[in-house]
Amino acid sequence: MNSGKRPDLKPPTNRLACAVREQVSAALGNPTSPVLLHRPFFPAQAWAYVKECLDSGWVSSAGSYVTRFEEMLAKATGCRRAIAMVNGTTALEVSLLLAGVNKGDEVLCPSLSFVATANAISHCGAKPHFVDVCNERLSVSTAALSARLEEVAAITPDGAINRQTGNRIAALCVMHCFGHPADLDGLLSVCKKYSITLVEDAAESLGSFYRGLHTGRTGLVSAVSFNGNKILTTGGGGAILTDDDDLADRARHLTSTAKLPHPYEFRHDEVAWNYRLPNLNAALGVAQLEVLDDIVHAKRSLAEHYRNYLRSIEGVEVLSEPADCFSNYWLNTIVLPESPDCSARDQVLDQLNLFGLQSRPIWVPMHMLPMYASCARGPMGNSESLYRRVVNIPSSPELSPTWVEC
Ligand SMILES: Cc1ncc(COP(=O)(O)O)c(C=O)c1O
Repeated sequence: MNSGKRPDLKPPTNRLACAVREQVSAALGNPTSPVLLHRPFFPAQAWAYVKECLDSGWVSSAGSYVTRFEEMLAKATGCRRAIAMVNGTTALEVSLLLAGVNKGDEVLCPSLSFVATANAISHCGAKPHFVDVCNERLSVSTAALSARLEEVAAITPDGAINRQTGNRIAALCVMHCFGHPADLDGLLSVCKKYSITLVEDAAESLGSFYRGLHTGRTGLVSAVSFNGNKILTTGGGGAILTDDDDLADRARHLTSTAKLPHPYEFRHDEVAWNYRLPNLNAALGVAQLEVLDDIVHAKRSLAEHYRNYLRSIEGVEVLSEPADCFSNYWLNTIVLPESPDCSARDQVLDQLNLFGLQSRPIWVPMHMLPMYASCARGPMGNSESLYRRVVNIPSSPELSPTWVEC
């Protein structure tokens, strides 16, 4: 019979795995169940808000929590408008459409991102065009973007055209990897030179700022995710952020079946989506937004703790926020030394996971996935090297030395 206790395991032998384990033990003692990569935190209020939805019967896409969540999100990010949606992928798809991405266009984006970045582009009928990332931020490199456009783009009255494919290059979709803001000013100035629209995949960067401006506010329109492992989770959920009222109204219309306002009649004026976030999910989001600053504070101090502690391990780099940024440190990130294969990375991952410390590598770069292998791309040296060397370690706020449950 399963006693519920984990079998006794030999402690990890890898120095890095031992050090991570010691840090987790310092916070949680000897955990008896697996330590998740990012455990969601639900403040006490979440129970009351969800109960209110159940008691009132407002559990679906109408209800006061959705509006409240959108208003709080706009306030937390400094954005004029937020439109809550069922997930981050759909929020990104609609963001791209609103930014003018059409069928047959190309959208520049990192190959080293979660697959949803390229999927959202594909769902618009457009094609991803991959650009390499920089080692400091793990997000699109301004130098690589500039070099790639120099190589392939022609500036025409209709915008930038890829001379090799004949397709219009409509947008750059930049992603803020693990919460660390990309070089937004640099990227924006390259985009302006080629009349390319900047869209931000800010799925991972709620609570992160670039030069004092919340991520998601430099691009014309951007998308956030509230998936289960994100810094704030509504179970599943996402949102569009924009400072443009017309785009926000359009997003709201398109994502709620294009229904014309009327007290009781159902009349719709175009083919649209049912992408609106349900009230039940929004209630969870409201409860967490009320304590977002506490969560970000805890995550930043956990990152500092890991950094100080792991510093002594030779050859191991703990990724830090760029100098001009304030990062939410969504996932703590370790970069191992250069390696021709994944063996050193996998040794660390095997030991951490065997010990119940859920850890994972960065995503397989998308140009290495079958459905995106034939997409246009520049050199991928950094993306391929980082793929072999990056490890994310447990990053829940409860692991932080400053964590006090609210
Ligand atoms: C970089 C990135 N883009 C997009 C998404 C898609 O968000 P969702 O899972 O809410 O659809 C995620 C997260 O899951 C992500 O990490």
